Amino acid sequence: MALLPIYTAPDPLLKAISRPVEEVTADIRKLVDNMLETMYDAPGIGLAAIQVGVPKRLLVLDIVGKDRDEMPAPMTLINPEITWVSDHDETYEEGCLSLPEHYADVVRPAEIDVNFLDVDGKRQKLRAEGLLSTCIQHEIDHLDGILFVDHISALKRNMILRKLLKLKKLAS
Ligand code: NI
Repeated sequence: MALLPIYTAPDPLLKAISRPVEEVTADIRKLVDNMLETMYDAPGIGLAAIQVGVPKRLLVLDIVGKDRDEMPAPMTLINPEITWVSDHDETYEEGCLSLPEHYADVVRPAEIDVNFLDVDGKRQKLRAEGLLSTCIQHEIDHLDGILFVDHISALKRNMILRKLLKLKKLAS
C-alpha cells in the first residue's frame, strides 16, 4: 500500500467531473486500498478518488474508525447514485482534506438512499442518515467537481480560498 498525495483547493482538478468506473478490477481495488490508507493517515472520514488525482466515480469513508477506540469500518462506494432524499434537512459543520483547517456549516437532506457497487463489483443499496448521510453527499459532490464551500456564501467561500491560495504561495 502507499500514501497518495491529496490535492488541495484551489486546484482546477478538484472541479473536474469524474467518470464512471467501468469494471471493478484489481487496479481499482489497489486504488481503494491506497485511498483508505491515505484517508486514515490524514486523518479524515472520507476521500474521493479525484482528491488523489484520479477522476473516477469512487469514494471511501469511515465515520466509525475516526475514534481511536473503535474498530475501523471502511466503506467503499463505486459509481454511487443518490436515488432518494428526505424532505427534512440537517446542518453539520463540514471539513475536507482538500480544504485543510477550514470548516463551515452546510445544510443537506438529512436522509438519503444511495445505490453503488462495492469492492467486489456487487450492486448495493443503502439508506443513510446523520453523519453517514452528510459524508456520502459530501464525497459524491467531489465526483461532480463540487466542494463543501460551494454550498456556503460567496463571501465566506472566497475568504477560505484566498487563505488557501496564500498558503500555497508561501509553500512554493
Ligand atoms: Ni471533501
